[in-house]
Amino acid sequence: MINKKVTDALNGQINAETYSAYLYWSMSAVLEEMNLPGFASWMRVQAQEEMSHAMKLYSHIIERGGKVVLTAIDAPPTQWDSVKAVFENGLAHEQKVTRLINELMDLAMAEKDHAASMFLQWFVAEQVEEEAAAMDILGKLEIAGGTAGGLYMLDKEMGARVFTPPAAAE
Ligand code: FEO
Repeated sequence: MINKKVTDALNGQINAETYSAYLYWSMSAVLEEMNLPGFASWMRVQAQEEMSHAMKLYSHIIERGGKVVLTAIDAPPTQWDSVKAVFENGLAHEQKVTRLINELMDLAMAEKDHAASMFLQWFVAEQVEEEAAAMDILGKLEIAGGTAGGLYMLDKEMGARVFTPPAAAE
């Protein structure tokens, strides 16, 4: 059984992960407006990942006899001035999510909820990847984004990303 405090915090994280999907869908739409279909596609895959993160939390609460409570999702921004600004915002957002996950882990440990601690380890590792991916793209934009040809090549590379659902056991 999961206690109320941990359940409430995990429900809050379902909201945060769903907001992340909203944010990335909004970014994807703006990238489409910028005629960068590869970047836009990458961002939609990112949004799919975020929904899978929300569902992992959802399943964990239910599996442990807690109550899932879904709350209103804030509207994301709808305007970014450049592809670089999009990914800078993405990185800042992932850094915020990392802080949220760390706070959740602190709570699970304080509540001696070992099952939640183990479950959250996956998210701790995932956040390292999330931040690394955003930094990697910003680095590539620095090198190749300055010219139309470079950006075109990078857009092609970004478009190759496909969604891989997290393993069922995770
Ligand atoms: Fe679910 Fe991008 O963190």
